[in-house]
Amino acid sequence: MHNYFTDEGQVIVARQELKEIIRFHEHDLTNTTAVQQARLLSPEPFDLIICRNVLVYLKRAAQAGVLERLCALLRPGSFLVLGTGEIPPKFMEAELQPVNSKVRIYQKTAV
Ligand SMILES: C[S@@+](CC[C@H](N)C(=O)[O-])C[C@H]1O[C@@H](n2cnc3c(N)ncnc32)[C@H](O)[C@@H]1O
Repeated sequence: MHNYFTDEGQVIVARQELKEIIRFHEHDLTNTTAVQQARLLSPEPFDLIICRNVLVYLKRAAQAGVLERLCALLRPGSFLVLGTGEIPPKFMEAELQPVNSKVRIYQKTAV
């Protein structure tokens, strides 16, 4: 963490070297081609996806589709973080194991 962030008392600030390697792209997560688009930009599986307080805007079926697509981008053993009011659907329980249910951190299994 100390390599990429500086503790400035009230806030933790990302160092310029980190900011320079972050690429920002906009995706509509409900678009079924979002996974292909993300893979074109970053062919390696993801170690972490933070998707907090986005699913709440979607209907249940759309939420499940988004989560399946995000899961497809994660490598086994990597992590997905949701908002505190967001829970993966039951059929994904085997694929997403809760690591911390209070702050909704899930780990992708090898399923
Ligand atoms: C309440 S904000 C949450 C922002 C941030 N993740 C957080 O927890 O503070 C909801 C975000 O969901 C994004 N969003 C809503 N529908 C989306 C979609 N279909 N695809 C991608 N982002 C979406 C909105 O643009 C907005 O930035």
